[in-house]
Amino acid sequence: MRTQVGIVGAGPAGLLLSHLLALRGIGSVVLEAQSRDYVEKRVRAGVLEQGTVDTLVGTGLGDRLLREGLVHHGIELRFGGRPHRIAFERLVPGRAITIYGQQEVVKDLIAARLAAGGQILFEVSDVVPDDIATARPAISFTHDGHRRRLDCDVIAGCDGFHGVCRPAIPDGVLTVFAREYPFAWLGVLAEVPPSAGELIYAHSDRGFALHSMRSPSLSRFYLQVDRDEDVAKWPDERFWAELRVRIETVPGWRLRDGPVLEKIVTPMRSFVAEPMRHGSLYLAGDAAHIVPPTGAKGLNLAAFDVGVLTEALAAWYADGSTGLLDEYSATCLRRVWRVQHFSWWMTTLLHTFGDDDGYGRRLQRSQLEYVASSDAAAASLAENYVGLARV
Ligand code: FAD
Ligand code: PHB
Repeated sequence: MRTQVGIVGAGPAGLLLSHLLALRGIGSVVLEAQSRDYVEKRVRAGVLEQGTVDTLVGTGLGDRLLREGLVHHGIELRFGGRPHRIAFERLVPGRAITIYGQQEVVKDLIAARLAAGGQILFEVSDVVPDDIATARPAISFTHDGHRRRLDCDVIAGCDGFHGVCRPAIPDGVLTVFAREYPFAWLGVLAEVPPSAGELIYAHSDRGFALHSMRSPSLSRFYLQVDRDEDVAKWPDERFWAELRVRIETVPGWRLRDGPVLEKIVTPMRSFVAEPMRHGSLYLAGDAAHIVPPTGAKGLNLAAFDVGVLTEALAAWYADGSTGLLDEYSATCLRRVWRVQHFSWWMTTLLHTFGDDDGYGRRLQRSQLEYVASSDAAAASLAENYVGLARV
């Protein structure tokens, strides 16, 4: 088999890249380890930045997103028994976020690619990026019981944090920067209307809690739990009771509960591998960098990377110019590090740290009160949250 861009991974990064390339007349094949059903049902992110929405709508993926996405003009920070609204419409006029599940984005992208004749091979195994240091790379893989080889001009490693592309880069090339956090998030999807119109980020002495949503009838919640927490230790009753203690802290506000559809524990980490390119292999999305989900940035950053890669590849295919490809890593990393800082900042602001002697908690409280009382501080949070137009 031969294609121009061999893409490993049918997450948001790989699928959006394939879609954007096709609009520029550039061919690609996407290789995915899981089944179509699996990737379409994997519940993850929910918040789309304005720029991500603009990209999706601008490239013909707006149909369902504009119909079903929930546009929000603010978020709430809840601490000290009071709600504090970060009002986007006043602090960052004209910019908003849209709540639309990652799996809905993935479904829309798969449908669009297949309708346009795009090639996505699901349930491939033993994927090996070959000859990545050369100008004739290839990807070997097994599909339907047959070993195959996909020759391509470049490989896009969009295979997430646990993929094979980043580890295929020889030792000594990449520099890794990372932080592990001493906690995880217990994420719950529940069949119950949201208890508030906007997201609530709640800081409490018992740990962080988040109220989010997917639709007028589906709510999404997260609780800070221990890093290696066993989900079995969180029967529904315990989950709702703990969520209530952490988030029902505002007089008169009540949490609605309902049937739990899914419960999963996700460890939190910050991670960047530099550079995001080696020879003919370009890393994009979670394959190159991870942020803790407190800033709701991972999917958005993945979308940014593949936008930059598309422009660079389009220039190269148009006239052979390599300037943008050479700058790919540096261009992406400028935004990656802004988002790393914001996500780390939101995480350290809102979670409790077991080893804190009280000093850290007082700093958190001071910073939270500053954000709640100063438009300058709130505007900084708001512009990072909705997504900086330029970095
Ligand atoms: P992935 O989605 O991980 O996709 C990689 C794909 O590659 C997968 O389909 C995988 O099966 C496939 N793959 C892996 N290995 C191989 C292999 N060897 N061969 C072939 N295929 C392979 N981000 C936000 O922007 N907003 C949010 O609100 C938000 N909330 C989050 C909440 C949680 C609980 C979590 C866990 C994440 C959240 N994120 C959020 C982050 C976001 O989900 C990720 O950043 C996003 O999925 C990254 O997309 P990706 O395509 O780079 O990687
Ligand atoms: C979600 O709805 O899944 C979500 C929302 C906000 C976050 C993270 C996840 O910061």
